This record gives sequence, C-alpha cells and structure tokens, in this order.
Amino acid sequence: MCGIVGIAGREPVVDRLIGALARLEYRGYDSAGIATLDHGEIQRRRASGKLVNLAEKLTLDPLEGVTGIGHTRWATHGAPTELNAHPHATPRVAVVHNGIIENYRSLLVELAADGYLPVTQTDSEVVAMMATRWLDLGLSPVAAVQATVSRLEGAFALLFLFHGEEGLIVAARQGSPLAIGHGDGEMFLGSDALALSLFTDRVTYLDDGDWAVVTPQKASIRTRDGMVASRILHHSNASSSIVEKGPYRHFMAKEIHEQPDAVSRVVGQFIDRATDTLVVRSPLAFDFATLGRMTVSACGTAYLAGAVGRYWFERYARLPVDIDVGSEFRYRQPPLQPEGLALFISQSGETADTLAALRYCAANGQHIASVVNVAESTIARESGSVFPLLCGPEIGVASTKAFTAQLTTLACLAIVAGRARGALDNAALAELVGALVSLPGALAKALTVEEDIAKIARGLSKASDVLFLGRGSLYPIALEGALKLKEISYIHAEGYAAGELKHGPIALVDETVPVVVIAPSDELIEKTISNMQEVCARGGKIILITDAQGAATHGAMAQQTILMPQVHPFVAPIIAAVAVQLLAYHAAVHLGADVDQPRNLAKSVTVE
Ligand code: AGP
Repeated sequence: MCGIVGIAGREPVVDRLIGALARLEYRGYDSAGIATLDHGEIQRRRASGKLVNLAEKLTLDPLEGVTGIGHTRWATHGAPTELNAHPHATPRVAVVHNGIIENYRSLLVELAADGYLPVTQTDSEVVAMMATRWLDLGLSPVAAVQATVSRLEGAFALLFLFHGEEGLIVAARQGSPLAIGHGDGEMFLGSDALALSLFTDRVTYLDDGDWAVVTPQKASIRTRDGMVASRILHHSNASSSIVEKGPYRHFMAKEIHEQPDAVSRVVGQFIDRATDTLVVRSPLAFDFATLGRMTVSACGTAYLAGAVGRYWFERYARLPVDIDVGSEFRYRQPPLQPEGLALFISQSGETADTLAALRYCAANGQHIASVVNVAESTIARESGSVFPLLCGPEIGVASTKAFTAQLTTLACLAIVAGRARGALDNAALAELVGALVSLPGALAKALTVEEDIAKIARGLSKASDVLFLGRGSLYPIALEGALKLKEISYIHAEGYAAGELKHGPIALVDETVPVVVIAPSDELIEKTISNMQEVCARGGKIILITDAQGAATHGAMAQQTILMPQVHPFVAPIIAAVAVQLLAYHAAVHLGADVDQPRNLAKSVTVE
C-alpha cells in the first residue's frame, strides 16, 4: 500500500527521502516520487516502477532542498504511470497521499466550476487542487490544509509542501497511519516507524482526525476540532539492523527461517520454561470462564490463523467461535452478545477492514483483544488487550513468521481458555503444553528438509493449477498453501476441505493438476487418505505432506512426499505451515518471480 515520508530538515533531503522510501518498499508499490523545495520552488521527480527508476532519474536530473516529501504509490485510481505518481503538485502546493478520497468526483466537479482541472486519473490530485484553490483565495498554508481536509471523505494520510514555505510540512491523518519522527533540529514524517528508523527512534503516532504543523524544530499537533493535542512519544525498536536480509536471498526466506525463534518467543510468553507449566504473565482483562462466544475477525493469512484457532478454541476450550473476514464482517452487522469478547488478528495492525470490524465491535460493547505484530499500530492502540507477536518487522509481502506466531499465540490462548473453562484436565493440559514446548525444535527440524521441498517445488512450478487439501485444523493450512502459492508464484491454486473434493472440485483433477494433500498422522488421516485415493483413481498426482508414521502407511500412494517431523496433532498445523511456505517460496524463486514484492500486492492494506 502507499507509503509516505517527509523531512523538514537542515541538510539535503533527496538521498534521505529515497532511503526512507526504500524502507517502505516492503509495503508493495508500483511507482514513486519525491518533491522538494528548491530555493522555495516546488520541484518534483516521479517514475513508474521500482524506486531504482526514480533514483536513476534523480541522477540524470538532480533535485536540491532541505525540505521534501516522498511517496511510493500502490495504484487504486488510475494506472501506475509516471503521470499518476505522487507527489501531485501545482505551482503552490505538493501533496502525497495514502488512502482513498471517496468523494473526489464531486469535489472535482466543484473545482472545475472554479476553473481548476485535473491532469491525472487519481483521486489524490483533488487534494492538491483544493489546497491550491484555498491558497488562491488568500488562506494561509495551514488554513488551506484545514479547509481542504474538512471536505475530504474516506481515508487519508497526507503531507503538504508549500511554495516559498521553507521548512514547513503540514500533515493530516484520517484512517491511514502516519507517524512523526523527532530528530535534532530536524523533524520527519512517515507511514510507519520503519520509514523513520534511518533517522530516529523517537516516534509520535497521529490519531485519527489529527493534523500537524511540522518544522525542523517541532511538530504542533491538533485534533480535528483544532484543540492542541499531546500524543505519546514512543521509543521505537524498528532499528536499522533488523531489516537487513543477512545471508538470505529474500526477506521471505529469512523470515521463514526465523520461525523457530519467533515461535519460541511466543511460547515463552505463556509457558514457564523452568517448570513447563502454563502461566499468564499479566492478568487478562476478560474472563474466558464466563464467555458465551468469541468473535474473531481478520484478513488474508491472518484470517486463516484465526480459522485454525477456531478448531483449537472449540475443541480444547469448548468455546464457540464466530469468525469472518474483516471485509464481510464490517457490513454484516452481526448481533453481538453484551460484554462479549472480540479478537482481531493482524501482522501490520493497520488493515482497514480488520480495523473497521474492530470499531464495530467496540461500538457494540465488546471487549477488544488483538493479536498483532506492530506494537504501536492502530489496531493495537485501539485494543483493550494486546497479545504481541514479538517477531520483529516482517518485510516480505507474503506473511510467514507472523502467521506461525499468530497460530502459536492462538494455540496458547486456547489452552489458557480451556483451563479457565474447566475443559482440560491436568493431564490433557500437560500434554498440550508439552506439544508447544517442543514446537520450536520441531520447526527447526522441518526447515532441514528445505532442499527436498525445493526439488518438489521445481516440478510444481510447471503446473498452471494446483489443489491443496486438508482436514480439520489442517484445512485452513490448505487454504494458506494455496494463497501463498498464488501470491508469490502467480500459479493458480485453490484450497479445499478434503471432504469437499467430491462435491465439485474433483472435476478438475487430471494428470496435469498436482494435488497437495496435507495429512500428518492424526485421528483424521484415514479420512483424508480416502480423498487422496479418489484423486489417484482419476490420474491425479499427489504431493503428500505428512510425518514418518503417515509416510510409512500411506506414502506409497503419493508421487512425492514431504516429510515433516512427528509432532502432537495439536501443533501439526504450525509445522505444516512451514512446508507450504517453502513449497510456494521455491516455486516462485524457480519461476524468477519477485518474491518479496509480488505484483499487485501490498503489505499493509490500509484501504477497503
Ligand atoms: C499474507 O501473505 C498476505 N499478503 C495478506 O493476506 C495479509 O495476511 C492480509 O492482508 C492481512 O494483513 P495483516 O495481517 O497485516 O492484517
């Protein structure tokens, strides 16, 4: 999704803006641009495609200035061309925008009547045009921003730069995230703390409705109503070093390999390693024992973590769970029991649909809990209880370590709930705790078969369609396997509950469609194997993801087998997640795809 940066500085800003935009590349984008005040004049350079294209332009046609704004654009309105790239500018003002201006059409009609006409196909240009009109009518830059923002509907994080106003950037936030970085005699703005991490670790997050006047010396923040606002100064840990690839070719590979550590940190939050017993380190603000039902909402991979969680909460805690994707939940207007618990899962903590579902639940009297990675994100800040993933920045657009950390958090919470609700006796609890304790080691073992998976993935990369099958808590992993493969290799893939195969999708099966069957040895394996036989009978080619026991009894039926470590069925989905991640990763690498920044995708989806 779009990323924005700004520097009100005292030294040249161009290289630093490019550096900060590079930190935002992970969000996904298709064009980029910067604008500076060059001796008071607004100057800009923009380019379609990757940041390197913009950097090349700047080498041929350099810019000067100590005040500037920059943008990576993820196209919503209008193709990803240089013309549509931000900053949008008139001779008086330049603007970068993340979000969607929903009423831009009616505003354009209004502006056209006054002789202001757009030159791009974007919704964002209207912001620069409106601000220009107010400036032409004699308003000061700050008043022009206020007047402009008061007319905007939709979601936005905006930065404004003004002709002749050296050192001034005006910012506004409604819906899309925006942070201010505090330097020494310089101030910075960015979509997230990562963008600011090159310059400072002192960060203030704007709230919805806030706007700020930023100069090299200070940032004055005001609320929508013009009241002076004081926002907390955070010390961000998004340091420079942790966003390097290290020895890995891609961030995704690095993040896949970070999973044993990431999961170990989550387990350590819930399990006392000295005694291998469940601990809740700080008291919960809600009571699992008396809950009638839990509502879960999330998007994409985070939703699939919740879908696995549902199996765990229902089975081990006997707690009914309603789960839906954020984009559907927000408009269903589901009735919610008073004083219920609503749980939201998100890596970024900024996903617009998840946030909207959260706000609906908050307005309907639910206790809001969230499982998030970015600790200072909007979802975290609007939650009554936060379960942090602590897995560090996830840069690859395809979520990997956040997914397994989300799963592990949900597994731990499910047994916390099971104990609180009297659904687990001591022996059962000890067995599940044991499974979680051995999880990091098992994940490390799963990673040792990477070369075998890479070989299988090379074959898979020749297919145009792939099916993934799983049962029970492995069914959402089948969906995740299909999602991962689609996202980064662009191979069409679908996931199904294994039992659903014969209700339709089996029509697709022939020798050209590989079928990935996820079937570790558990109480359902025989059922899944029957579905596998149905595939074999129709000439389908099976890639079986199982463990040694499953391979010994059923491996002969598969063309290829991916051998995962033998674990307790409780944690088998977390292990199988690694297998499907590696399969997708190596298929994509083999196809030469842009693994970390797949086409059309954004890391942080801050629009509907
Ligand atoms: C994961 O691989 C995806 N790119 C995507 O589905 C993602 O999980 C989804 O957009 C939700 O993001 P969030 O976890 O930041 O809320």
